[in-house]
Amino acid sequence: MPLRSKDLLSIEDLTLENIDLILETASSFEEVFDREIKKVPTLRGRTIINLFLEPSTRTRTSFEIAGKRLSADVVNVSGQGSAVAKGESLKDTAQTIEAMSVDAVVIRHWSSGSAKYLAELIKPPVINAGDGWHEHPTQALLDLYTIKKEIGKLTGKRVAIVGDIAHSRVARSLIAALNKTKAKVTLVGPATLIPMDIDKLGVDISYSLDDVLEDVDIVYLLRLQKERQSENLLPSLREYSRLFGLSKARWQRLKNGVRIMHPGPMNRGIEIDSFVADNEKALIREQVTSGVAVRMAILYLLMGGAQVE
Ligand code: NCD
Repeated sequence: MPLRSKDLLSIEDLTLENIDLILETASSFEEVFDREIKKVPTLRGRTIINLFLEPSTRTRTSFEIAGKRLSADVVNVSGQGSAVAKGESLKDTAQTIEAMSVDAVVIRHWSSGSAKYLAELIKPPVINAGDGWHEHPTQALLDLYTIKKEIGKLTGKRVAIVGDIAHSRVARSLIAALNKTKAKVTLVGPATLIPMDIDKLGVDISYSLDDVLEDVDIVYLLRLQKERQSENLLPSLREYSRLFGLSKARWQRLKNGVRIMHPGPMNRGIEIDSFVADNEKALIREQVTSGVAVRMAILYLLMGGAQVE
């Protein structure tokens, strides 16, 4: 069964059935990871372009490995060294890509809405790997997959998303995904980093991490963008860390079975203590592993590959 639309641009594009299908497909692909030859011939002869116009390590590598494990040819294009750096418009880049008969484009771009714009310009599927402050749907899907795999069904799970909610595409996609799966979300952070009317999304808000620590099943930490301090949204990094960082002392107050997640890259010592990041309660490495399986599933479902073997 294909997904509802040609592209994966936002979590809003997906029905709950679509999400289940992606997670189930990811699970069958994950079995390949234990094999000596971690590859299936599903997308042999197909070409995927990874168009990453913003810095990225894990998302770009994850998509590249996902494509290669499906036997597709994967071509990486980054901002630096590409025609974009010479001032080429996204429209011209799109037409160039289309003229080379590629079969899918994965795009990361600094501008919100750029993935949708590209999707309207070209025929092959477009996958949003993060567009500005807007969405990062594959991150949310790999997070759901990780939660389901490591601690069971999502309905009723209490998730605290902590940090810079206002500027986070990860938070926006994750809130949408957790709402669809009927998990309960609390956003935690300083008032300057939580958008005013975000409670309309049906989430709870807390300005104190200490108040929610004992009630949650998952603490999802976001990277604190240091530039927020120069924008006067934060008095000081030290104060942020003292109030909202997951320290060892706070970690000790978590219930048994609580899990800690982070999309990476982490700022150790700011939003997360090193002890916490490397502890067995952390699912940060598992999230990375899940990312490859989930992205394989998405590429397979959007590109209409042959059966999983
Ligand atoms: C995030 C991103 O780039 O949106 N990272 C990621 O994709 N794993 C989060 C971040 O940069 O803080």
